[in-house]
Amino acid sequence: MKCLKVPKQMANDIRKVMMEKSLIDLDLKIKRDSEFVYLPLISRVDFEKLRKLNMCQFLDDLKFEAQKRGPRSFMDFLKDSIESEKIQDIKKSFDIIGDVVILEIPEELYIHKYIIGKAALDFTKRKSVFMKKSEIKGITRTRELEFLAGEDQSETVHIEYGSRIMLDVKKVYFSPRLATERERVAQQVKDGEIIVDMFAGVGPFVVDIARQREVHIYAVDINPYAFSYLKHNIALNHIENKVSPLFGDVREVLKNKQITADRVIMNLPGTAYQFLDLALELISPGGILHYYEFASDYETPINRIKSSAKNRKVKILNKRHVKSRSPGVWHVGIDVQIE
Ligand SMILES: C[S@@+](CC[C@H](N)C(=O)[O-])C[C@H]1O[C@@H](n2cnc3c(N)ncnc32)[C@H](O)[C@@H]1O
Repeated sequence: MKCLKVPKQMANDIRKVMMEKSLIDLDLKIKRDSEFVYLPLISRVDFEKLRKLNMCQFLDDLKFEAQKRGPRSFMDFLKDSIESEKIQDIKKSFDIIGDVVILEIPEELYIHKYIIGKAALDFTKRKSVFMKKSEIKGITRTRELEFLAGEDQSETVHIEYGSRIMLDVKKVYFSPRLATERERVAQQVKDGEIIVDMFAGVGPFVVDIARQREVHIYAVDINPYAFSYLKHNIALNHIENKVSPLFGDVREVLKNKQITADRVIMNLPGTAYQFLDLALELISPGGILHYYEFASDYETPINRIKSSAKNRKVKILNKRHVKSRSPGVWHVGIDVQIE
């Protein structure tokens, strides 16, 4: 094995230079004796180029022990127990929310769930790992989670685009996969706007927008836990004077409010269509609606918006697949201007 024999006193400096030039074989252990340090070199190293490093001796035949390394990838952690294709699927399912990892494990791998949980914990270096135990369901859009590894702590603070969002993954809806969408909406907002977030949850749209713009946002949610975190997150991000948090069913809450909105956000993709009439009542002429629906095409959500708008002119500004929901079905986002 090629190596560089260097006097002990110089070893550290030379090692750094060699590391920078990627000449050291990191899979092998460096050797030492009382006077010298022996740096194992990668096999393609060109001794001639290194001759100028005086006081070093190049040896060609020293034996080195292999480095004992921990696994480096999620695959390394699990490759002895699970097929690689399935490991990749589990990895793709990771949602990392603050210190919490949520993952999806196919039923046939439930017997390995704790090994998978521990691997996810070690790989992500977060504090807690939970697995999905149900679909997202009910009016509050939450799901059952089972604790797998780390600390059984489901409350965390997630940071996205500089917004700090505290939440309990077991009690409220939150998807880190919508971060880009939220920022996309926030970037369209102009100072002075009145905005209604009809299904605000713990407030990720609200916080992202109010941190960046001089606006007033009415933020509504029916889940008492989400509402409590919403208020907390408003304070955490110092936007108290820009947001009115409102608790309850959006129909009831906004009934007597006489709000005229420049922008309405409707991120309740399963059933938002049931509230389109209300959204259309709120929107001022020229106002913008960000509408979301689970759909396999764009026509269905667009037609719903058009029929709710009745005689008002509808201008589609943008339509996109925000994320995949299931094969062939998308969380579709439509931006519409209502004349
Ligand atoms: C899909 S989550 C979206 C939350 C948030 N906008 C986000 O992006 O993380 C929908 C939210 O709507 C709330 N919700 C459902 N029906 C409601 C209603 N009728 N009135 C007010 N909020 C409602 C749920 O509690 C849930 O927090």
